[in-house]
Amino acid sequence: MSFITQALKNSYHTGSVWPSSRALARTITRSFREQDGPRKILEVGPGSGPFTKIILDSLRPDDEYHLVEINEAFCKNLQSRLIDPYLSQSKDTAKVELHQGAIEDVTLPSTFDFTVCGLPFNNFPPTVTRSIFRQLLELTRNTGNLAYFEYAAVRTMRGAVVGAEGRAKIKRIDAHGKSMLKRFKGERELVLGNLPPAYVIRLHGMGS
Ligand SMILES: C[S@@+](CC[C@H](N)C(=O)[O-])C[C@H]1O[C@@H](n2cnc3c(N)ncnc32)[C@H](O)[C@@H]1O
Repeated sequence: MSFITQALKNSYHTGSVWPSSRALARTITRSFREQDGPRKILEVGPGSGPFTKIILDSLRPDDEYHLVEINEAFCKNLQSRLIDPYLSQSKDTAKVELHQGAIEDVTLPSTFDFTVCGLPFNNFPPTVTRSIFRQLLELTRNTGNLAYFEYAAVRTMRGAVVGAEGRAKIKRIDAHGKSMLKRFKGERELVLGNLPPAYVIRLHGMGS
């Protein structure tokens, strides 16, 4: 199974043709990897698992890690290629659970210290993007940390090829991103080592 096959079959949900690079995966997971103590982490939209690999390598036995992925083929692949081998190690392992379904529909057991999100927000209608953000913010504790990425200049490029309605949608998504950055002391970090280059966006202090 390749990421490209799934991207072609389901471009709305997949939103890109290539999986993210290791450079992007290391940047988006940095806050989680640098944190001491037991950590609860949520990954939304793991796809073929570039972030998952790094998160699994960084887990300690008292951590808890939940993944939510809508695509059945990606779920089967993640379970057999990454999660089962991690859980069958001889050393102590953290609790890891993969939930197949849309983040909007899945019931998760708790809130989280870190959320890493790979969803293609630029593909979704602004109302869906806003409602998923609300949910992710609720799922991430007050002291928590939500990281997601978007391709650099993607909205500018799209804006050049879509009609007036498309440009109005892009403007609403852009405004939403800017208001999230302001409200949650967000920071953006450009990762050039990804195809295409991407910004990692980190929001802090959810709920405060
Ligand atoms: C842009 S791909 C990112 C995959 C991977 N994180 C990476 O960076 O290579 C988006 C992923 O989100 C998943 N996805 C899309 N909508 C979703 C939803 N509502 N709930 C859960 N997963 C979703 C897709 O199936 C796909 O695996």
